[in-house]
Amino acid sequence: MLEKSKLICFDKINSTNTYVKENYKNLDSGTIVLAKVQTQGRGRLGRVWISQEGGLWFSILFKKNLKYPNFYTKLSAITLLSILKNLKISAKIKWPNDIFFKGKKLSGILTEIISKNEKVQAIVVGIGLNVNNETPPEGTSISKVTGKKFEINLILEIFINKFNIYYKFFRLFPFLLTIAWKKNLIFKRNDTINGYKIKKITSEYLIVQKNDLKKKINSIHELEGG
Ligand code: BTN
Repeated sequence: MLEKSKLICFDKINSTNTYVKENYKNLDSGTIVLAKVQTQGRGRLGRVWISQEGGLWFSILFKKNLKYPNFYTKLSAITLLSILKNLKISAKIKWPNDIFFKGKKLSGILTEIISKNEKVQAIVVGIGLNVNNETPPEGTSISKVTGKKFEINLILEIFINKFNIYYKFFRLFPFLLTIAWKKNLIFKRNDTINGYKIKKITSEYLIVQKNDLKKKINSIHELEGG
């Protein structure tokens, strides 16, 4: 469960995920680290996440009653979709966990595992949501989509409340979380992207087939040629 009382705010930091990873021993489970600006924001697959002022950049630390890492990623994605739905933005999940609206990225999630002697000690979920900030051309923001400016702290508060509600439910029925996640994916099983038919979708990989060639991929860019 997330608590507003466990919120740590920075004006500027390298990366909220890096901060949590470096300090997890001294932080409580459920701690949220927020930054106005990140100087070395990180994305999945070693990419850079541009994090100028006006976006919602935060990380959450989980140390207790740990579920599998994807549980937190999917829960965050479903929470983000629900916030966006309330704002009348019908966003979808681009596999595995990017939030897209009309072909442009609104939000990304970077989940990292902290382990010691092969035992998971903690999980860090980092969320970047474009709100009022400028975005690269392949991205968009809530402000661009709605034409309005939003209060970052208010969106975070709504995230916390919704996340807790979903957490209470889905921790009891995790298979329903996977169903909700699959239901909201842009590309589904049997869809074809650039001649590759999607044969299987899991949180970690896709099995795709082109003619007689079947392959396992862990980045959709391999299909799109990005
Ligand atoms: C992605 O789409 O590749 C994931 C982007 C995750 C960005 C967030 S912003 C807060 C947290 N701190 C980071 O350095 N990254 C995540």
